[in-house]
Amino acid sequence: MDLTMNLLLAIATFVVAVMGDITHVLDEINVERKTELKKLPESLQEDAKLSTSEMIKKYGYPCEDHTVVSKDGYVLKMHRIPYGRSGPSNNRSAVYVQHGFLCSSVDWIISGPGKALGYYLADAGYDVWLGNVRGNTYSRKHTKWDPKKDAKQFWDFSWHEIGMDDIPTMVDYVRKQTGQDKIFYIGHSQGTTVSYVMLSQKTEYNSKFRAVISLAPIAYMGRVTSPFLKTFSLFEHYTEWIVNMLNIYEFLPRTGNVAAAGGWLCKHSMFQKLCAESLFTLCGYNREQMNITLVPVIMSHTPAGASIKQFLHFVQEINSEKFRQWDYGIVYNRVKYKRWSPPDYELENVKAPVYLYYTHNDWLAHVEDVEKLASELGNLKGKFLCSDKNFNHIDYMYGIDAPTLVYNDILETMKKH
Ligand SMILES: *[C@@H]1O[C@H](CO)[C@@H](O)[C@H](O)[C@H]1NC(C)=O
Ligand SMILES: *[C@@H]1O[C@H](CO)[C@@H](O)[C@H](O)[C@H]1NC(C)=O
Repeated sequence: MDLTMNLLLAIATFVVAVMGDITHVLDEINVERKTELKKLPESLQEDAKLSTSEMIKKYGYPCEDHTVVSKDGYVLKMHRIPYGRSGPSNNRSAVYVQHGFLCSSVDWIISGPGKALGYYLADAGYDVWLGNVRGNTYSRKHTKWDPKKDAKQFWDFSWHEIGMDDIPTMVDYVRKQTGQDKIFYIGHSQGTTVSYVMLSQKTEYNSKFRAVISLAPIAYMGRVTSPFLKTFSLFEHYTEWIVNMLNIYEFLPRTGNVAAAGGWLCKHSMFQKLCAESLFTLCGYNREQMNITLVPVIMSHTPAGASIKQFLHFVQEINSEKFRQWDYGIVYNRVKYKRWSPPDYELENVKAPVYLYYTHNDWLAHVEDVEKLASELGNLKGKFLCSDKNFNHIDYMYGIDAPTLVYNDILETMKKH
């Protein structure tokens, strides 16, 4: 199964590579993860192996693990940094931070104290909760199903289910644990998508947030420029058909080392790079903001796991240019939704105060798509176009200048609430 998926990805990526500039870019990154890792200082080599909570403790911050179970049985793990260098106090506002597609809680701490958003918020006096949604490294568990043996059941979800179940479950847990009626929400990429799903569908959640901060917001995707995603979207029905035929449920299975497990295609060096660096293939690579030293460490933790259905739902968004529920095709839509096409997520129902952070060089959250989202949200409080024209989708997590370009601004915004 892994082999087939990698084959599929390799073919698609090959097309992209031939059409675009990807190979060149990836060559520049020059990551054969393992060899690169060995060249790093020992401490960073160790970081490649540590879990989120182990790493947080290693860098001298307190960390707690918290486990919750979604209504439909997914076992979700959150990491909490209750306070930072400023020390403990009992009036710290809670902030829930939600990662994006293929990512995990680790991405909020991986660039280290003084740089990563997780530490940044803790040092600024917040009680930081890092969520992990179903299917990723930390939430790859279900009360009934095994992700491998019961793959068909386990992976049968999209980001709709994440927004309807995982996020409300984790948010309510944080509110209960901290005794705070309203908390902050910071989402990145898919982490914003799921917040809009929740807030538009379960409108009682709007009053549970002091502010919702969206980094690289993803609702409308009609103008996505990622060559990888565009290639797949051209073959939406074909991709769906192949995936169904071959019973592929998990997106880019993380079998320790994708390249090694991926079989013969990935063994050829060009393909090895392409197979392995899915995040860069999807989102692009910004030489000025990416800390090259960190790349092998990042690649040891990412991709962290997601379902094929999540990916295909995004592909549907690209083609439909709508922000709406899963499209079953007209026959089953009729059965499921009692209408021919899936219902839209009503963005005017999002009444929590929302702040949007976006940028010119984002392959996924295009400026015009974000503007469209902005015009429809029920209570938009502000939108900030990044002053660095080259800042891209993943720089919100790892960008060298993310603290000065984005995080400081987030803190200012949070102070207003
Ligand atoms: C928490 O309390 C400290 C000292 O009592 C105060 O300086 C700080 O502004 C308070 N923080 C919040 C978020 O209320
Ligand atoms: C890159 O990452 C390493 C390891 O965390 C760090 O020591 C270094 O200061 C970083 N470089 C920049 C420019 O942030």
